[in-house]
Amino acid sequence: MTGVTPASPIRLRLALVGPPGSGKGTQARLLAERYGLDPVSTGQLLRDLAARHTPIARVVRGLLEAGRLVPNRIVLDVVRKRLAALEAAGRGWIMDGFPRTTPQALAFDAMLQAHALDAVVVLDVPPEIVATRLAERGRHDDGRSTIERRVRSYERETKPMIERMQRDGSVLRVDGDQSIEQVHDDIAARLTPVDGMTGGLGAT
Ligand code: AP5
Ligand code: MG
Repeated sequence: MTGVTPASPIRLRLALVGPPGSGKGTQARLLAERYGLDPVSTGQLLRDLAARHTPIARVVRGLLEAGRLVPNRIVLDVVRKRLAALEAAGRGWIMDGFPRTTPQALAFDAMLQAHALDAVVVLDVPPEIVATRLAERGRHDDGRSTIERRVRSYERETKPMIERMQRDGSVLRVDGDQSIEQVHDDIAARLTPVDGMTGGLGAT
């Protein structure tokens, strides 16, 4: 790793996408430190929501335990609230695990309006590797059949979204099947800040 640098004034807006266990959370934390961004994990926001004592919490809890995607209406609501707070505070941010379907990507575009994403980083990791990583981690939704369902959701819903985004040209694909440090370095090398003020895409 090239070393974590202090928070910079660069207000990047990034999204990190990849299959379960691809390292989204790990890399989001490292990028957040490096660029002074706030990481936003929809998985964590939904786990927090599921821990409440409301009818919606019960529904979300059931979906998370089954490894199924949470309905867009609920996901978009939590994202909208978090982003509004970050934008009001003048913070850059990195989405971890959002968007993950084409309808979410379209709604996200509409939500961002003038503030386009600087980049969507896709972590490519083969299914057999993610299965091993998650079995070792052991989060409550890391049972074998639940992992399989999460991977299937990625194949069916997220991959077509990425293909669509790739046609728009904002996607940086990174080999996530390397050491944590090497993945981080690869991402950072592709994010070349322009004039110290705005984020920009490195040459692909
Ligand atoms: P979420 O919490 O986002 O889970 P996920 O996508 O399944 O991904 P994980 O958090 O399991 O893995 P990760 O990619 O963050 O990897 P990590 O860095 O932890 O979502 C959970 C659920 O919420 C979803 O199933 C869905 O139900 C719902 N949800 C969330 N967002 C949604 C949305 N937008 N729409 C609808 N529903 C949504 O790494 C994993 C392990 O590997 C760790 O132990 C780590 O130390 C290790 N590791 C990381 N990098 C490396 C490396 N390079 N080499 C070796 N080990 C590594
Ligand atoms: Mg995660």
